[in-house]
Amino acid sequence: MSWILNMARLSVRKLFALCLCLSAFVFLIITFQVVEELGQFELAAHRLPLKEREELTQIQPFPDSGVLTEEKLSAASEDWYPFIVWWSPLTGELGRLGECGNNRCFFTINKSYHSHPSTHAFLFYGTDLNIESLPLPRKEHHHWALFHEESPKNNYKLFHKPVVTLFNHTATFSRLSHLPLTTQHLESLRLLTSHTFLLPLAQKNHLRHTLAPVVYVQSDCDPPSDRDVYVQELMKHIQVDSYGQCMHNKDLPSHLRDSTAMEEQSFYQVLAQYKFILAFENAICDDYITEKLWRPLKLGVVPVYYGAPNVHMWLPSNRSVIVVDPNEPPEKLAQYLKRLDKNDWEYLTYLDWKLKQEVSNQRLVTALKERKWGVQDITQDNFIDVFECMVCNRVWENINRQNEGLPLRLWQAEGDHLRCPPPKLFDFTVDPPSSSSLRHLWRASYDQSVKEARALRRLALRNRNFTVTQFWSEVFSD
Ligand SMILES: *[C@@H]1O[C@H](CO)[C@@H](O)[C@H](O)[C@H]1NC(C)=O
Ligand SMILES: *[C@@H]1O[C@H](CO)[C@@H](O)[C@H](O)[C@H]1NC(C)=O
Ligand SMILES: *[C@@H]1O[C@H](CO)[C@@H](O)[C@H](O)[C@H]1NC(C)=O
Ligand SMILES: *[C@@H]1O[C@H](CO)[C@@H](O)[C@H](O)[C@H]1NC(C)=O
Repeated sequence: MSWILNMARLSVRKLFALCLCLSAFVFLIITFQVVEELGQFELAAHRLPLKEREELTQIQPFPDSGVLTEEKLSAASEDWYPFIVWWSPLTGELGRLGECGNNRCFFTINKSYHSHPSTHAFLFYGTDLNIESLPLPRKEHHHWALFHEESPKNNYKLFHKPVVTLFNHTATFSRLSHLPLTTQHLESLRLLTSHTFLLPLAQKNHLRHTLAPVVYVQSDCDPPSDRDVYVQELMKHIQVDSYGQCMHNKDLPSHLRDSTAMEEQSFYQVLAQYKFILAFENAICDDYITEKLWRPLKLGVVPVYYGAPNVHMWLPSNRSVIVVDPNEPPEKLAQYLKRLDKNDWEYLTYLDWKLKQEVSNQRLVTALKERKWGVQDITQDNFIDVFECMVCNRVWENINRQNEGLPLRLWQAEGDHLRCPPPKLFDFTVDPPSSSSLRHLWRASYDQSVKEARALRRLALRNRNFTVTQFWSEVFSD
């Protein structure tokens, strides 16, 4: 995420190095996650501070703290503001007074404010939510808010009702969460409909002498969606150029091979030469849609998409993407792609929206228009700012209600604010059979996470801090 936020400020070269680092880091996290989920040990994932501001000065929240110990009194005072504590190093901010409309809140990652009387909310970042140290006991006025935009593979135990419903506020990829981040990987309609990379079909047809009709680029192999096994089967029936580490069969052109020299633009030009891109997500959940879908659409290549079962809700038009049905044999998909490859007219029906620069899906248009955050756009707030302010404003709403003697408003996360069905393996024969044992771990990891979620809820409701040992014995007593 940090690279999205900082993109505008970094040169492409630096960015790429950063991406490599981050992917390596993420891979490590995942590897450890699986081990952790299996109950061997708990990894304290220390993420880098992900949000940078021009100036990070540590402000003293209370210049005159003596006056403000009694909360109700102080809430009435002019320069009092509630504390909102990030239970994660995500923002890297030790102290910042945030302005949210007419409301001000003090945001900090300093956990020592846990028991401070002015602390009203805790913000959690799903990926590094660590069971080891929750802000317990939780007081009556403590709002808990969950921010999790990433794939479930980065913390399965959050994806179950017993855990999700511990929170009051959510910002997740689900369209049902309080701050839906479903379009988090799409910058704008303008980029979606742009012709910058679009090649004429005649040129694509000409390129077919040297290129396959389909391209696949993936280096995170054997994720929970089991996409590589599907691709392996598909490759038996249609030619696929695979440039990534998974199912690799083609090297990038020599001018791009030196990865530090590889620029995003030239890489896009390589992809744009193809008729189809396999856009397969690493996990299959409603609304979990990444740049894998948007990139081919931006380039003018038809995505062959496997991911969110409800992706139809988000497509630019009803004929823009070929959606994989996991219950149909890959051979059938291959035949369909071959037919489109031979039939220009039929292929072009999938680019009609692009050629006309017309997005007919009103849900998508509205979601982009109404979201209050930008993507890789330094002129707009990012979604973390907006999340912080959502919580700040809700905290203030209750403080004001309390001061006016009104009943408090209650917020409650629902199970569907973060939900993902158990990962399923395809049952094709894998070749070589020993290629990866990782793919068999996801289901075990998921099943284990169901127990972890129940244990976490029981312990959280007990409302006392607990040790890792207590947590695991609670899990295994399930
Ligand atoms: C966190 O807050 C406490 C109490 O205000 C303070 O003593 C401590 O220095 C802070 N820690 C950091 C890293 O700023
Ligand atoms: C797809 O959209 C077009 C134009 O918006 C419409 O005429 C057509 O009926 C739609 N088809 C389906 C299957 O929804
Ligand atoms: C927050 O959620 C908890 C747990 O469901 C609930 O007890 C509490 O009343 C909620 N607080 C607010 C302000 O909604
Ligand atoms: C729980 O909290 C108490 C008091 O805040 C502290 O003394 C104790 O060390 C904590 N225990 C654990 C397991 O964190």
